[in-house]
Amino acid sequence: MTLIRLSGVTKTFLPQTRGEAPLVAVDDVSLDVAAGVICGIIGYSGAGKSTVLRLVNVLETPTAGTVEIDGVDITGLGERELRRLRGDIGMIFQQFNLFDSRTVAGNIAYPLEVAGRPRAEIRRRVDELLEFVGLSTKARNDPEQLSGGQKQRVGIARALATNPRILLADEATSALDPDTTQEVLALLRRVNAELGVTILVITHEMDVIRTLADRVVVMEHGRIIEQGPVFDIPPRSSPRTTRFVARIIEDVPQGDDLATLRTRHPGRLLTLDVREGAAAQADVFAAIGAHSVRFEVVHGGINDIGGRVFGHLTLAVDGETESVDRAIAAASAFATLTEEDTRG
Ligand SMILES: Nc1ncnc2c1ncn2[C@@H]1O[C@H](COP(=O)(O)OP(=O)(O)O)[C@@H](O)[C@H]1O
Ligand SMILES: [Mg+2]
Repeated sequence: MTLIRLSGVTKTFLPQTRGEAPLVAVDDVSLDVAAGVICGIIGYSGAGKSTVLRLVNVLETPTAGTVEIDGVDITGLGERELRRLRGDIGMIFQQFNLFDSRTVAGNIAYPLEVAGRPRAEIRRRVDELLEFVGLSTKARNDPEQLSGGQKQRVGIARALATNPRILLADEATSALDPDTTQEVLALLRRVNAELGVTILVITHEMDVIRTLADRVVVMEHGRIIEQGPVFDIPPRSSPRTTRFVARIIEDVPQGDDLATLRTRHPGRLLTLDVREGAAAQADVFAAIGAHSVRFEVVHGGINDIGGRVFGHLTLAVDGETESVDRAIAAASAFATLTEEDTRG
């Protein structure tokens, strides 16, 4: 069952200064999110990810297209329906957005107070939520006494206060160190598995997608350039997405890294696409080794994405021009090799 549906959604922002062109933040985006899944949206800064969340949250209205929650077009809702919808959607943020003037318990109680719930019910619900996020002993603390990970757990508890069916996470772990990130991602998985909450998580970190999401949507310049189950993305994707994902993982050398490699290693730099399998890798090495050239692995990374191997190894191959040409030609029969000079 589709819970969130965007159909041909475009969001254009008018220019601040006269004479400038309008900015198309979201460009003809269509997206179905099934109830119960964790859907990740990944892309560079400025890709339009936050705007998509704000459209789902009715903080923005689409310039064109429709946004439906549970089959209801949310753009035309009246005040009361809008309030009910907002109770059905929780949101967490990179900077946590906690109220410093309220205790931990007070922060979690806030949405319930706004909804006018009875005090006894609020107290019960807050206790339950504190327990769920593992912060029962911190109820009376001020947010500034907490670590980043604890603050985000308060953010999650507050977002869940009204029992929403949808949780939107905007770079929710981007301000956290790797260990704390894993802790928060584990909690989000529990939110999904134990409470059945559908989660839309936006991030620029492939790691977050890999450990959390069932499905991934890749956005670039306001458009969706790829989407599918997480484990399917590398094998089935277009070269453009493969390169995009590789860059996010940072296993393809670029910029300063690439310049440094060039100064350190004579010869040609070629990047091997590892997802073609270990056998292909061995064949590539054997094929190059059969020619009188020197080669070494100078950069790369191999990742496990949803149980499938995905990664890149950059080789520096050096020797007589003709031998190098022959070695590379032979190796190319076994796997995709991209010359770093020709990579866009
Ligand atoms: N309220 C706004 N007014 C004008 N431009 C905006 C507004 N919100 C976002 N943008 C622009 O829309 C584009 C997409 O922004 P955003 O959705 O925040 O991207 P992301 O979250 O992927 O970094 C950016 O160029 C951004 O500057
Ligand atoms: Mg953003």
